[in-house]
Amino acid sequence: MYLKAVILAGGFATRLRPLSCSRPKALFPIVNKPLLQWIFEGLAANEITEVILAVNALTQFHIKQQKPPKCGLKIKYAIDPPKTPLGTAGAIKITEKIAKYEEPFIVLNGDIFTEVNYKQLMDTHVKTGALATIALHKVEDPSRYGVAELEKGNRIKNFIEKPTKEQAPTNLINAGIYVLDPKIFNYIPIDRQCSIEREIFPALAKEHKLFGHINEGLWMDIGTPIEYLRTNKIILDKLKEKNNLKTPKNLEIKKPVAIDKKVTIGEKTIIGPYTVLGKNVTIGDRVQIHNSIIFPDTKIGDNTKINGAIIGENAIIGKNVQINNGCIIADQAKIKDNINLTNEFAVCPAKEVSETILKRNVIC
Ligand code: GTP
Repeated sequence: MYLKAVILAGGFATRLRPLSCSRPKALFPIVNKPLLQWIFEGLAANEITEVILAVNALTQFHIKQQKPPKCGLKIKYAIDPPKTPLGTAGAIKITEKIAKYEEPFIVLNGDIFTEVNYKQLMDTHVKTGALATIALHKVEDPSRYGVAELEKGNRIKNFIEKPTKEQAPTNLINAGIYVLDPKIFNYIPIDRQCSIEREIFPALAKEHKLFGHINEGLWMDIGTPIEYLRTNKIILDKLKEKNNLKTPKNLEIKKPVAIDKKVTIGEKTIIGPYTVLGKNVTIGDRVQIHNSIIFPDTKIGDNTKINGAIIGENAIIGKNVQINNGCIIADQAKIKDNINLTNEFAVCPAKEVSETILKRNVIC
C-alpha cells in the first residue's frame, strides 16, 4: 500500500499568540517533542509513506530550520501564495499537482494530537464508497466545533458549525482528520479562499456523499493555551510509567514531569507535578514550578514560583517572581525581579516587564 497524507499547517494560530508569533502551531513542543514529530510517527506507523505539508512560506522556513525527524516519510511542501491564505480547502487544492493522487488520501489538521487508526478510517471510506469521510470524536461539549448529524450507515446528514450545547444534534465533532477521494478536487474552486468545513462538507452532505467514522482513540486539539497545557498533562500521565527520572539530592520532583537534556536545577527547588522543562533550562534555588511548561534555554531566578503558566524559549525570569493562572510569557521576554503576574497575563516576544500587573492584560 502507498498512502499519502496532507497536513494542513498554514494557519496563523491567533489563539496561541504570543507564543505563536515566533513558531507555527505544528512545532509547539508536546512533552519536549514537536507536535509535527508526533504526527509523523502516527502516520508512519499506519503505512503512510508520503506527506505533503500544506503551509505558508514562514512555516516552511521554521520546519526546515528545526528539522523534526521524518520517520521514514517522503516529505513534500505545498506553499500558500504570499499574502493570501487559501483556507483549508484551498490549501488541499494546491497539493493536487504536487501529489498526483490516484487513490483516496488522508488530510489532517496540523494542530491535533491523536492516536486515530488511519487504516480503519481508510477502510470505512473504501467500504462506504464515500467521496469524503470525516473522523468523528465524542466530546462533552460540542459547541466549539463542527457537529455531525448521522443517518443509518454513518452517512452524515448535516454538518453544523458551532451549535449551542442544547442545539447540537449529537456530541460527535469533526476531529480534523479526513479521507478524501481525488474527485473532491472538482468541488474546490481554484481562484479564491475556501474552507473545507464550511463550504465543501455541507455541499457533500446534501449530495449524500459524506460519511463519518467514529474515532475511539485519544484526540486533542492544541489550539488554545488551555488546550495546549491540557494536552501536555494528558501525555505526561500516559508516559508516567516509562519515566524513571532519578531525583538528585536537595531537590523535590513530584511526578509526572518531563525534564529534557542539559537542564540545571538549584537547591531546595520543587518541580511538578505536571511540569515540562525544555532543553538547557536553568532554574535557581528554592524555586517552585507546577502545572507549567518551560520552553528551551529559559532561565528562572531564585525563589520564583510558577503555576499554570507557559514560558517561551530563551526567556529570563528574575528572582522572587510569581507567575500564575494561565499567564503566557513569549520567547526572549524578560521579567524583572519581584514581579507578580496573574490572570492570563501575556507578554509578547522580547518585551520586558518591570512592574507588577495583576489585571488581565497584554504587554506588546
Ligand atoms: P486560529 O487562528 O487560532 O484559529 O488557528 P488556525 O487558523 O491556525 O487553525 P484552525 O484550527 O482554524 O485551522 C485548522 C488547521 O488548518 C490548522 O492546522 C491550520 O494551520 C490549518 N490552516 C488553516 N487555514 C489555513 C490556510 O489558509 N492554509 C493552510 N495551508 N493551512 C491552513
